[in-house]
Amino acid sequence: MPALTPPMGWNTWNRFLDENHRADFDATTETAVLEQARALVDTGLAAAGYNYVVMDDCYQSFRRDYRGRLVGHPHRFKSGIKCLADEIHALGLKFGIYAVPGSQTCAQQYFDYHGLDLGSLNYEQVDAEAFSEWGVDYVKYDWCRAHINDGLKAPEAFKKMADELKRVNPDIVYSISEYGLFESHLWAPEFANLWRTTDDLLPHWDSVMRTLDQQVDLFPYSRPGHWNDPDMLQVGNGTLTPAENRTHFFLWAILNAPLMAGNDLTKMSDETLNLLKHPGVIAIDQDWGGSQGRLVHNREGMQMWEKPMSSGGVASVLVNRNEVTTSFNLVERYRQGSTYVDVWSGDQINDTVISLAPHDSIIFTSR
Ligand code: GLA
Repeated sequence: MPALTPPMGWNTWNRFLDENHRADFDATTETAVLEQARALVDTGLAAAGYNYVVMDDCYQSFRRDYRGRLVGHPHRFKSGIKCLADEIHALGLKFGIYAVPGSQTCAQQYFDYHGLDLGSLNYEQVDAEAFSEWGVDYVKYDWCRAHINDGLKAPEAFKKMADELKRVNPDIVYSISEYGLFESHLWAPEFANLWRTTDDLLPHWDSVMRTLDQQVDLFPYSRPGHWNDPDMLQVGNGTLTPAENRTHFFLWAILNAPLMAGNDLTKMSDETLNLLKHPGVIAIDQDWGGSQGRLVHNREGMQMWEKPMSSGGVASVLVNRNEVTTSFNLVERYRQGSTYVDVWSGDQINDTVISLAPHDSIIFTSR
């Protein structure tokens, strides 16, 4: 089964949104995708586990070809999708692609992207077969109001593509996205490897916290091969400060979330790179100790999220959601005599009173 651990990689979408969160079609090119793929390798992120390069919406030409297949945009993806997939594979990476169950992609609806029949409605088999021939390793299937536009029903329409993909290549990771509209956590685990739980995550603190709040009750639904997806990472994007980037990343790790970076890998700060690449934090994300993280303490703006580790210990993230520095005594929550290790620094924590700056957090293990 694919995705036995939460998938990691890089996706084009967050990178190619402009400051007003509008899709920049012109910037979405095969050259740009390859440049980012090379940067995944050169920065060591690929070696750290980020191995899927996912081409999100806006790669498509205005029409399908004579066989009904999706085609790359004639100017921006002129070598063809198969060729791009081959180049990404040659870098030792895996290739993902975007499609939608209805007749229109989200960019067609929200950003006036032009095209006819770009959705997979009535092309499910054609698309799955093409994906398989191109060597696609990961499919993101995005709802985009298909109930309103096309009268589709959510589980059925997603299941249809799941069946096609399973038939052509059962190793393809199937990532679905209906933003939590139809409680996908209740039915998606039967046939999808990951399902979005919220609307799009934007690169600012309020959006990260709003998204986090929507994860509170979802911990019973994930397990190896099937993950809650609180959306792709915004680390290094928008107005997120270093403390906010850390908090976002630590929380996604404690949630066993897929780690899909979406920043410009060719221009990131050392701070961003060191965060994305941190082996201890990644290890927590990829570890399955029987449950994803859950909220175990929530008082006066201080939250503790915790998950069991397969080693028998516990991994925790303490977050200060306040606008002022706030302290917390670990002994309020853990046994006296526990050993705490700060995962970020690798140091043992000796003073159990932790003081955190606004929006900052600490990730630690205890046993
Ligand atoms: C929706 C999804 C995003 C992205 C865009 C593409 O908004 O939630 O992740 O795939 O569509 O148009």
